[in-house]
Amino acid sequence: MGKEYEKQSLALLFHENTKKINTFEEFDINTQYKIYPNACSINLSDYYNREELVEDELFNVILNRASTRRWADKGIELNDLAKLLRLSCGKRLLKEDEKYACRTYASAGARYPIEVYLVILKSKKMNIGIYHYNVFENSLELIKKGDFSKKVYEFYDGQPFKSQPPCIIFFSMMFERTMSKYGERGYRFMLIDAGHIGQNLYLVSERLGIGIVELGAGINNDEIIDEIIGINSNYENVFLGFALGYKERNIK
Ligand SMILES: Cc1cc2nc3c(=O)[nH]c(=O)nc-3n(C[C@H](O)[C@H](O)[C@H](O)COP(=O)(O)O)c2cc1C
Repeated sequence: MGKEYEKQSLALLFHENTKKINTFEEFDINTQYKIYPNACSINLSDYYNREELVEDELFNVILNRASTRRWADKGIELNDLAKLLRLSCGKRLLKEDEKYACRTYASAGARYPIEVYLVILKSKKMNIGIYHYNVFENSLELIKKGDFSKKVYEFYDGQPFKSQPPCIIFFSMMFERTMSKYGERGYRFMLIDAGHIGQNLYLVSERLGIGIVELGAGINNDEIIDEIIGINSNYENVFLGFALGYKERNIK
């Protein structure tokens, strides 16, 4: 504590006070779109053929992205996990003159404040436990061996899962990386960075036949997950999760 960006930080106060979820009202579906009924509009569907989109592999993946809450009772193979992490949050192919280890996603100021952890809950080949994705070496570091399923499923008790996911991905934010440069506004940037990685996870999963759902919150304070992983909550906080596993055929 005591760093310049931390002094009287409203962002960090906000962060502290939103570690547990509160819901206030039912969602009104009519608030999902904005329409200017009197505007002169261009119909974009006239400017491409549907087949053009469906036949292109990338476009098709984007069109089919969806959240999955039912998974096959099978761990994710390492070759799929490797592609998922490398493509969603690994280093991008470097150009010779590139100074930073830039990633496959955009990050405000190239600060990359998000760290990625994996909790393997079911697997035949991998050690069950908690791993950290080491971006620099493109490796999975086993930081805690053991079965964390009870604690993790308990944290997500109440989530509308139709079966238990074999793997959870957690994002933590390391405040200093971004807030030391951008102050309070940096807090926004960290959340936006996370959204970029999240969309990559969704799209690469879709391409690999993995079903994924983003998880905004568990039933408890997020710090429970910091404790399970073993990170220092003063510097780094878990704030977002994703449940994933192979899709069960024809089930979304
Ligand atoms: C920030 C964020 C938090 C979310 N949290 C949850 C969650 O806790 N549980 C859940 O089942 N889905 C969660 N979702 C997934 C949304 O419910 C889902 O994206 C939305 O219903 C639209 O469905 P689709 O992803 O299939 O298009 C979350 C999505 C986002 C972006």
